[in-house]
Amino acid sequence: MPVVPTKQILDRAFAGGYGVAAINVINDLSMEAVLAAAEELHAPVILQTSVKHVKMTGLDAMYAMWLAYTKDVRVPVALHLDHCPERDVISACLAKGWNSVLFDASKLSVEENQRQCIEVVAEARRYGADVEGEIEGFKRTEEMTGDEAQHVQSLETVVEFVRTTGVDVFAPAIGNAHGTYKTAPTLDAQRVSDIVAATGKPVALHGGTGMSAEQFSDLIGRGCAKVNISTALKIAFMKSGFEFMTEHPGDYDPPKLFAAQRTAVMEMARYHIRLFGSEGKAW
Ligand code: 13P
Repeated sequence: MPVVPTKQILDRAFAGGYGVAAINVINDLSMEAVLAAAEELHAPVILQTSVKHVKMTGLDAMYAMWLAYTKDVRVPVALHLDHCPERDVISACLAKGWNSVLFDASKLSVEENQRQCIEVVAEARRYGADVEGEIEGFKRTEEMTGDEAQHVQSLETVVEFVRTTGVDVFAPAIGNAHGTYKTAPTLDAQRVSDIVAATGKPVALHGGTGMSAEQFSDLIGRGCAKVNISTALKIAFMKSGFEFMTEHPGDYDPPKLFAAQRTAVMEMARYHIRLFGSEGKAW
């Protein structure tokens, strides 16, 4: 099973009550390693690219890597553009072949976000691609003091946004944040159930790094079919590199360092795939 629409992966997970890891990759090594872990566990997986990494690598180079690494892939995979407020980057990725995009206009008013999101969905459909929507935005964990109330929209506003735009998956703020939580986050799981019941669509869980096994299983059971993991990959990648150089001072043979990093990234991906219940769910 090769590259498939993101929605196909998510709809199956949503119906089957499991979560699919949506892992942000940062370069060729991490892209290959996450795909290898998914193949090993016979799991569907979504690979995400940030705007920063698309620009840093170059859109053509990033997509050429994706094509090369997925040419003979044996599990369902999809390529997703994470948090993108820039319409020109969205258009370029869709035209190139990304399977889905998160249009992040959370800094705009809901009305303007909605108006533009309708256009993004129409554009995506021309390429057979899917769209994730958000209207609240996510903080970084460093910005969280622990007792501030997260600004969320009403259920009616969310339902209206999802219905009017036709987005395939919605990313709500439920007390989650990007980065490394200082203390375990308090999450509004009921909000996920309410949104799923009212929209009938899967929810994307952001800020996955550092949530507990119980939180994942509860939220996935409520409809979080897409579970985003980014910081955990960066930690695995950077720490394994540091540890390798600490344990092998003076060894400047890059492939040995890369092998250590690949092992660490694969282990991180395996851990989350198993935790989210998608092991063996490839078709
Ligand atoms: P973490 O970096 O906290 O894992 O969040 C990932 C994410 O939500 C990407 O959009």
